[in-house]
Amino acid sequence: MPISDHDPSEWRDLNHAWWEERAPIHAASTFYGTGGVGLLPFESEDLGSVEGLSVVHPMCHIGTDTISFAAAGATVVGLDFSATAIDAARERSAQAGVGDRSEWVVADAYDASAALGGRQFDLVYTGMGALCWLPDMDRWAEQMWALCRPGGRLYVSEFHPMQDQLHDDETVLARDYFPVGGELFDDPGSYADPTAETSADIVVAFIHPLSHVITALLAVGFELRLFREFPFTVYPRWPFLEERETRVWSMPADRPSIPLMYSLLLDRPED
Ligand SMILES: C[S@@+](CC[C@H](N)C(=O)[O-])C[C@H]1O[C@@H](n2cnc3c(N)ncnc32)[C@H](O)[C@@H]1O
Repeated sequence: MPISDHDPSEWRDLNHAWWEERAPIHAASTFYGTGGVGLLPFESEDLGSVEGLSVVHPMCHIGTDTISFAAAGATVVGLDFSATAIDAARERSAQAGVGDRSEWVVADAYDASAALGGRQFDLVYTGMGALCWLPDMDRWAEQMWALCRPGGRLYVSEFHPMQDQLHDDETVLARDYFPVGGELFDDPGSYADPTAETSADIVVAFIHPLSHVITALLAVGFELRLFREFPFTVYPRWPFLEERETRVWSMPADRPSIPLMYSLLLDRPED
């Protein structure tokens, strides 16, 4: 069905079909490797040791980051609305030797707390391409709050909205920073395997200005401890990015640096 036959209000069904089809492609890709690839250096700097913590990871996909937390000594729960992704995550956690410290749940991010029976965690971790799939940051922030125990922390490690605002082929402005809703895209293949044969190709993505994300989190009661922006990303978003270190892709020296990722660390105060 062509993109013109769809409407952004179909975001959940369209995105669900897109991710269901991509999960096995990603599980077989070299992009995602075979298990956890380790936390990024800035994530480790921001969080310190996670050993012994209970961690929940909404929108965990095939568990790559979740498994990294388990490998670093945390007990983890990964949650995603794609049953295929969750099956792959469960298998990969066993292969990585952390199956006994990992639990996997199929649920929508907006139902996360109910799906986990109201359980609360030391650390709620999310991001790396998660927020752009959700239309409403206020509803999302309510779920993050409900998942975090009093005295616990929320950590968001995410692609910068500036990156979404720029054209896919060039660093020229192509989209609003203050969008009025979701945008339909025809997105065949996958960032993890551009040659993959796919049929569920229409997605709805949302740009969330940083002020919207932060305001939604402060409104539910979180206290902001750390906010950082980074001039690099973790994949070749444009062909001219340079991989200066493993998994760190930066602008070449002859182009202006722009923010490509950000991190937010917030405290849920004790009751
Ligand atoms: C880019 S991945 C998450 C990032 C992860 N760090 C990764 O790359 O492995 C996005 C994930 O969000 C999930 N997702 C999208 N919309 C969702 C929703 N409404 N509820 C739960 N999961 C959702 C998709 O199924 C997908 O697994």
